[in-house]
Amino acid sequence: MNGSPQTPLRRALLLMCALMVMTALVLVLAVPAFAQEGTPPQPSALDPAGPNSAAIASLFNVVLVIATVVFVVVEGLILVSAFRFRRRARDVSEPTQVHGNTKAEIAWTILPALIVVTLFVMALQTQQTLAKPDTTVAPEQMTVKVIGHQFWWEYQYPDLGITTATDLVIPTGKVVNLELSSVDVIHSFWVPQLNGKTDAFPNHVNFTWIQANTPGAYYGQCAELCGASHANMRVVVVAKTPEEFDQWVRDQQAGPAEPADALAQQGQLVFSAGACIGCHTINGTAANGKTGPNLTHVGSRTSLAGGMFTNTEGNLRRWLTNPPAVKPGSIMPNLNLTRTEIDALTAYLQSLK
Ligand code: CUA
Repeated sequence: MNGSPQTPLRRALLLMCALMVMTALVLVLAVPAFAQEGTPPQPSALDPAGPNSAAIASLFNVVLVIATVVFVVVEGLILVSAFRFRRRARDVSEPTQVHGNTKAEIAWTILPALIVVTLFVMALQTQQTLAKPDTTVAPEQMTVKVIGHQFWWEYQYPDLGITTATDLVIPTGKVVNLELSSVDVIHSFWVPQLNGKTDAFPNHVNFTWIQANTPGAYYGQCAELCGASHANMRVVVVAKTPEEFDQWVRDQQAGPAEPADALAQQGQLVFSAGACIGCHTINGTAANGKTGPNLTHVGSRTSLAGGMFTNTEGNLRRWLTNPPAVKPGSIMPNLNLTRTEIDALTAYLQSLK
């Protein structure tokens, strides 16, 4: 009976260690499994590509360092106490009884208070940075209206007269002010390398801003549960050099390309005679529906169907065959298109560069 107090403690500690090791193993093994399954890359908020996300990442790093120090000190003291002052075999004496220690109490009151106040002030400063871009550093600005739909993002460039979807094209080195709203439910615009999560509400305009330091594709994800295909509501921010961006603007401002070959011409007929024009717009044509994405330059985008697929012939074909089958909850219905119609539409839509 004498040795018994040690055994349960040791057993509990061993069990705890085993559980921690197992959890860590499961997490380490699960990450690549998930990464293989989904097509889009999984960028990290700790790998910032602009000043907005850099402010968030640096605050996180400070919190991480402080939290790690606190964790190691507190857990270390607990472990030391548990081992050093544990009940020994054949020791039946009472431990020394103490009450109160003014110095220790002052220390463990002031120290946490200081940490909390420091983090509070730093969080306020970060909020300030995120609320308003520093125009003394980046004087050039532009505005894009970002509108959430189930399940894709619409982008309107009011100063440039451009409406597009899914790919948000921006110039590098310029502050891009984003005015967020939604036509249906609450969505959340999140591109981890460029900004923090910002909600997009119906009937309310929310604000955030992004700025990309270098050209590239920055992937993101709707971060507010918004329906069956919430997980399929993705974002791609395509950052171009200012020159490339100007070229993109000129291309987007131009009217739609006229279909060159017979198949694409046939596709144009299918498009304008069918249900497509009720939901989609192609500038300068009879198609002026507003429910679905503007398709005037759909062929120039990198992704399709709210960023679910890369914009390839095969994926477009798959999408047109039965949208709700590949994207649950898709508002675009299965139009029961024939093979010939799908071939023609694919050729036409791909020609809209
Ligand atoms: Cu939109 Cu989740």
